[in-house]
Amino acid sequence: MNPISKIPSSEITPEETFLNRRFFMKTAIWAGSAVATGGMYRAFSPRSDVKSTGSEIATVVDSTFQSSLGADEKVNSFGEIAGYNNYYEFSTDKSAVAAKAKDFVTDPWSVEVGGLVGKPRVFGLEDLLKMESEERVYRFRCVEGWSMVIPWVGFPLAKLLSLVEPRSEATHVAFETYYDLKQMPDAGSAGIDLPYVEGLRMDEAMHPLTLLATGLYGKTLPNQNGAPIRLVVPWKYGFKSIKSVVKITLTNREPPTTWSLANPGEYGFYSNVNPKVDHPRWSQAKERRIGEAGSRETLMFNGYEAQVAHLYAGMNFEEDF
Ligand code: MTE
Repeated sequence: MNPISKIPSSEITPEETFLNRRFFMKTAIWAGSAVATGGMYRAFSPRSDVKSTGSEIATVVDSTFQSSLGADEKVNSFGEIAGYNNYYEFSTDKSAVAAKAKDFVTDPWSVEVGGLVGKPRVFGLEDLLKMESEERVYRFRCVEGWSMVIPWVGFPLAKLLSLVEPRSEATHVAFETYYDLKQMPDAGSAGIDLPYVEGLRMDEAMHPLTLLATGLYGKTLPNQNGAPIRLVVPWKYGFKSIKSVVKITLTNREPPTTWSLANPGEYGFYSNVNPKVDHPRWSQAKERRIGEAGSRETLMFNGYEAQVAHLYAGMNFEEDF
C-alpha cells in the first residue's frame, strides 16, 4: 500500500463550521447498549439524502459523539474522513479518490446474499436503507499506520445475516465489491486483483460491533467511503472493511482476501489490530491520528479488546496475523 502522505489543509473542513444542525438536534438522545458493544449508540433518525464529496458539508464535533472515546480523542471532521481514502478501484492516491469516485452510480444497487443459507435473497437498496438503525462512533486503524475516529450510520451485519437464515455448516462469510472498468477506469493499474474480496469468520460476522455502514455523520455514505454500503470491522485493520459490497456468501471454508492474495507474507486473514505484531516492513506499535500532530500508542484490538478478545482465545497471533 502507499506510504502515508499528508492531507492538504485545503481538504480539511474547519470544524467550527456547522451546516447540518438539523440532524444533530434530532439525534441528541442516548439509546443505551454502549457498554455491551464498546461502540456508541444513539437514538437514530434517518440520515439526510445529501450526496456529498466532502467539500460542501462542513462538520461538527457533536459532544455526544465523544462519549465512547478516551478523553484525549475526538471525532475526525467530515472533510478528513471523506478526503483521505483508500479505494484502489478509483485511485491509489488517497486524496484523488473522492474526485474520481464522484460519478460512481450507487442507485440502483443490490446485494446478493447466498451460499450456505436457508433463504438466499437479493436485497435492493431500499431494503438495506430501511435497516439503518443506529450510529456508531468507531476508531478506524489503517494497516499503513494512520487512524481516524468515524461516526458511522448503519446496522449490524448480524441483522442482515439473520434474515437469510445461516445454515449450521457455515463457518465463514465472503464479501465482494462491485467491479466495472467503465466506471472505474483506473482500476486496471491498481496493482491488485479485482473485484476486491474480503472475509470474516462466522463469529466475527455475527459480533454486534460488526457493522454494515450506509452513511456517516448523518449523511449518505460518500462514494469514496464505499457507497452505498460497506463493511466496518473496528477491531481489524481498515482493509478488512470492504467497500461498495454487492455479494455476501456464507461458506464452510476461509475465503480469499484481496491483500493476502496480493502479498500473503504481509497480510493475513485475521488482520486484527495488534501493536505487538509488526508488519514485516514497519512497526504497528504507534499510529498517526489524522488531524493530530505526533503519534499515539496503538491499542490491542484497536481498543475493543474487552468486546472481542474472547473470539481469539488460544490463537497464536504471530502465526494467525
Ligand atoms: N474496499 C475496496 N473495495 N477497495 C479498496 O481499495 N481499501 C481498504 C478498505 N476497503 C479498499 C476497500 C483499505 S486499505 C482501507 S484503509 C479502508 O477501506 C479505507 O476506508 P476509508 O477510505 O473509508 O477510510
